[in-house]
Amino acid sequence: MMTPDPGRQTLLILGASGDLTARLLLPGLAALLATPDAPDLSLVGAGMEDWDDQRWRRRVHDSFATAAGGSARPAAVADQARYLRADVTQEQELRRLLDSCPGRVVIYFALPPAVTVAACAALRGAELRPGTRLVLEKPFGTDAAGARALNEMLARLVPEDQIHRVDHFLGKSTVLNILGLRFANRIFEPVLNNAHVAGVDIVFDEDLALEGRAGYYDHAGALRDMVQSHLLQVMALLAMEAPPSLDARELRDRKAEVLRATRLWDDDPAVTSRRARYTAGTIGDRRLPAYADEPGVEAARQTETLAEIVLAVDNWRWAGVPFRLRSGKALAGRRKEAVVTFRQPPHVPDGLRGYEQPDRLRIGFGPDQVRLDVNVNGPDDPYVIDPVTLSADFGPGELPPYGEVLRGVFDGDPTLSVRGDTAEQCWRIVEPVLTSWQGGAVPLLEYPAGSAGPGDSLVS
Ligand code: BG6
Repeated sequence: MMTPDPGRQTLLILGASGDLTARLLLPGLAALLATPDAPDLSLVGAGMEDWDDQRWRRRVHDSFATAAGGSARPAAVADQARYLRADVTQEQELRRLLDSCPGRVVIYFALPPAVTVAACAALRGAELRPGTRLVLEKPFGTDAAGARALNEMLARLVPEDQIHRVDHFLGKSTVLNILGLRFANRIFEPVLNNAHVAGVDIVFDEDLALEGRAGYYDHAGALRDMVQSHLLQVMALLAMEAPPSLDARELRDRKAEVLRATRLWDDDPAVTSRRARYTAGTIGDRRLPAYADEPGVEAARQTETLAEIVLAVDNWRWAGVPFRLRSGKALAGRRKEAVVTFRQPPHVPDGLRGYEQPDRLRIGFGPDQVRLDVNVNGPDDPYVIDPVTLSADFGPGELPPYGEVLRGVFDGDPTLSVRGDTAEQCWRIVEPVLTSWQGGAVPLLEYPAGSAGPGDSLVS
């Protein structure tokens, strides 16, 4: 076995030839490598494709191209990258891979969930070097039982703090800005509770459609792909109690606590969940086929491309406040925001006319901005209220979300990774909905691609 050099790390990507590696992981890595405090890194790709080093290096260079910003470091790492053909579900082959990795090894499972499980099982027989870190993509398991079983398997391999369950939304600068907005200001936090908030909407509407991802998406659908993972993470940051520090344990404890208190509103999926899928339509100059006709989709599987659920958080702060989560694909508008709608003021003085809408705090996830809708006296008649919006744009973070998450991985800091118990809680929260949808209790609605989605949305 190779002697570990504490300063040196190898990123071993299992599933190197896949789409995720090329589109997200490698560009994030390039941006990280271009920073002054970038880790000292070797890159090894592994997969079933019959590639050689040259082929892999071309892939790495292509993916690095736009994200590296002209820095020499990423190019140097790409030039030295190695590729090993391997069946990563076989113990012997994993041993061979690990033996060829210098320094501390970071194993990135850029694989479909079932292959990840098989690879983790095979790792049990391979000897892992001290300090080895495991990085897993979402979906983490496919249900609560699967997530629990996977957690148990991982716990036999390395300690929890060396397991990084990636949710790239936790690396988005605006999502992280929720912490600054809530806890570095005096004015918002005291009113973020059921005395002042009427409801919270977390919406991620995309104009993107399937993008050739049927192999993954047709088994996942919008609820698993977006709501069970990303949107619940955003909700946890919005609803959790104030942590004393952003230390990994403190932050993740607060998130876990609030997710444990979360359940489906009224425990009734028939009323507080909706699912739909798009039919043929047009978005801008793109003509889209119906989801059911997309290559690789099995229409009978009834996979939803839009999901909505309403959640309750059963604690002192939030009891009685609905949290409405929605995400959909192939929609007309790109509405990506969390909106806190405040209650009406207790009394608008008689004689002050025109009050129509409550105050709203909007946190946008693209464009990245914070907006506050408030009522002021209008420019003409001073006794008539006009709503105005105070708005601030955020610049992009130093790193793209995948770069931010990877920084935590290489620094051995799991703050931005999803902890095992939290991954299980997120499945527990959506499981009644999944069960009810599988049983057909909630109809699968339809909406034309390029529309606003089916009418009568649960979100406001
Ligand atoms: C991914 C989902 O995790 O997040 C995609 O699988 C979705 O379906 C994407 O489009 C959205 O994130 P971003 O950062 O690309 O807007």
